[in-house]
Amino acid sequence: MIERPSTDSGQATEVACLADPVPAHPLLDGLTEIGRGESSIVLASRDDKHVFKVVSSPADYFYLAADDRPTGIHFPHLFADHGIVGKASNGYSFRLLEIERLLPLAGEAAELGRMLVNAYWEGCEKWANMGVNRGRLALYHIAQDPPAGLPASLVKAVAALSDFIEEYPVQPDLLNPGNLMMRGDGTLVLSDPVFLP
Ligand SMILES: Nc1ncnc2c1ncn2[C@@H]1O[C@H](COP(=O)(O)OP(=O)(O)O)[C@@H](O)[C@H]1O
Ligand SMILES: [Mg+2]
Repeated sequence: MIERPSTDSGQATEVACLADPVPAHPLLDGLTEIGRGESSIVLASRDDKHVFKVVSSPADYFYLAADDRPTGIHFPHLFADHGIVGKASNGYSFRLLEIERLLPLAGEAAELGRMLVNAYWEGCEKWANMGVNRGRLALYHIAQDPPAGLPASLVKAVAALSDFIEEYPVQPDLLNPGNLMMRGDGTLVLSDPVFLP
């Protein structure tokens, strides 16, 4: 998942998407799919506050639903964990989570996102000799020595994400487009910042 960030060019990088159909479940009947990535499918709920996220990666499940997941204003809010709803073609269970609806980055949140991704990318380059651990080190060093202009709340969130990544068998993934999103009030949200290597 370590790829050159696309944020400078403003062009979205192609993301390989999960090919599975939406699992059959009464809560998902008739809902519109609004997003899809390598391991998740996102469907709009009947109100504009929630989405249903069908996750197949255990990394996403730990991040979004574990009791000791990082929480706070820069993390996605979980409304409900509806449990296992099927099996994905990648071999993992599909789990259905009801989480807050987020928006693509815009305005000041997009600026902060760029700052964070650039600092992360610079760290990945600096720690390239650490191989698969370069992302973890890059994140750790952003928390220790943050770029000027990154708000204290976001530095704290990066530190909490870094701690989470040390506790679980996951790696950071800040570079894929769509992994950073924002709340309606413009707060940057680390929507999908981890993957299972
Ligand atoms: N909470 C959300 N609200 C609205 N759209 C979302 C939300 N989470 C993800 N999405 C959309 O779904 C896409 C895939 O979600 P993502 O979490 O990146 O999945 P994956 O784990 O497969 O990478 C995102 O690029 C985004 O467009
Ligand atoms: Mg993603």
